[in-house]
Amino acid sequence: MTDINEQLKHRRAATLKGGGDARIEAQHKRGKLTARERIELLMDKGSFEEFDAFVQHRATDFGMEKTKVPGDGVVTGWGTVNGRQVFVFAKDFTVFGGSLSETHAQKIMKIQDMALKTRAPIVGLFDAGGARIQEGVAALGGYGEVFKRNVIASGVIPQISVIMGPCAGGDVYSPAMTDFIFMVKDTSYMFVTGPDVVKTVTNETVTAEELGGARVHTTRSGVADGAFENDVEALLQIRRLLDFLPASYESGVPEWPTRDEIDRIEPSLDSLVPQNANQPYDIKELIQKTADEGDFFEINEAFAKNIVTGFGRVAGRTVGFVANQPMVLAGVLDSDASRKAARFVRFCDAFNIPLVTFVDVPGFLPGTSQEYGGLIKHGAKLLFAYSQCTVPLVTVITRKAYGGAYDVMASKHIGGDVNYAWPSAQIAVMGAKGAVEIIFRADIGDAEKISARTKEYEERFLSPFVAAERGYIDEVIEPHETRRRVARALAMLRTKHAERPRKKHDNLPL
Ligand code: HXC
Repeated sequence: MTDINEQLKHRRAATLKGGGDARIEAQHKRGKLTARERIELLMDKGSFEEFDAFVQHRATDFGMEKTKVPGDGVVTGWGTVNGRQVFVFAKDFTVFGGSLSETHAQKIMKIQDMALKTRAPIVGLFDAGGARIQEGVAALGGYGEVFKRNVIASGVIPQISVIMGPCAGGDVYSPAMTDFIFMVKDTSYMFVTGPDVVKTVTNETVTAEELGGARVHTTRSGVADGAFENDVEALLQIRRLLDFLPASYESGVPEWPTRDEIDRIEPSLDSLVPQNANQPYDIKELIQKTADEGDFFEINEAFAKNIVTGFGRVAGRTVGFVANQPMVLAGVLDSDASRKAARFVRFCDAFNIPLVTFVDVPGFLPGTSQEYGGLIKHGAKLLFAYSQCTVPLVTVITRKAYGGAYDVMASKHIGGDVNYAWPSAQIAVMGAKGAVEIIFRADIGDAEKISARTKEYEERFLSPFVAAERGYIDEVIEPHETRRRVARALAMLRTKHAERPRKKHDNLPL
């Protein structure tokens, strides 16, 4: 018995060392924490319970039988984040570069299965060199099993991936099927094939950072939902994100205490929209003044900035905010903005998070690059996503709601439950200039006539009243009372029940 206890002590101590002191030091020198240090920061103090610390690989090719490391390059288990259960796996770069073997994959699968069974979120921390080369097809099989579980769990429990080092080859596709990907600036990169393969195949010379660094994926590809300065900030922000998320699609949204009164009045909002309809303003101010304590966790902040998406709370309960941003491209909907918002809307609907939509949109972006790039399909994604929602939808039109974009942005017609407009709202097929130039083409040479026609159009159509007369807008509200009206609408909608016809699944325009 004593021997076993002694053995346990030694074996446990060995598991804590990962690939050994030298490799841990190298990891620190690169500005990265180890897998265990990361888990410590992510979880509530002392709450982490590890699984499979003694698991070793069973490979024998290339002398692998002589290099067994307990844990096999991934630390897995569960713990709590602010008291709520969360599962985690963290790739250990100090062991075979965090590469995935058959047994390493089995450890991840066990955690995925547990998270799904117990309906709790799962967080993957990535820092790895892809498939364990010495294991060949056994590693590929392992990836496939992990991918399949990602898909089965999609829409059941939240899945979050944090890229904290290299993430290449097979390692990129599991994150890609999770709900959110975050990266660490300067120390992480993601690509299917690395710079060497790129050089061989396409003759392009790129660095890892240029090919798949945090800047590329948060601003150009949109693959990552955000990037943080370092490991510590990333993990603390993931804790913050988890506080917004339901444990599963069945759990309901978390509710946290708040001292922010729901009927807080914000007089400054009365002057948020400038007199000049072409002058921009920051829609994030409206989001912050509507959310409890101004707390807003933005998703995909640096990508398609013409639309803003993220989580906040109203009356202590999570809501998803979607808002056109007049500060960027006048808030127009383009392909990137449409697919960014569509994905966010679908996440919220899948997990029963109500949506609050602020609308100031001049329409869809015209042009060959948009049309050739599939604007029709991408715009349809957002239209589809909102139309599909069964969660409460509260919409506030602050200024422009023109053309097809009016319909798309959670209008009454596609399922908006409560649709408000500020007095500054202009709900129309298009702006005055474009409209007059089309319907009064014959008058174009006559400046006086055009000016009179424009005024006539503005007075008739560029107000909330035409839509309100038809009941497309439920009420014209004062900007300063937006939080109170949104909060009351959400409270009224808590018992919303919406049915859809039975089907196998829909056919989202991908
Ligand atoms: C086995 C690996 C490994 C791997 C790294 N190591 N990647 N061992 N399988 N895939 C080992 C290294 O041999 C080294 O061991 C240690 O980890 C640290 O690696 P370094 O190369 O010294 O580190 P660094 O210079 O930081 O470079 C990191 C790296 C590089 C960029 C990730 O190691 C690399 O390019 N690795 C290979 C990437 C790759 O091609 N993976 C296969 C992808 S194919 P020692 O003992 O020397 O310290 C794939 C297919 C799956 O994943 C598809 C499924 C759909």
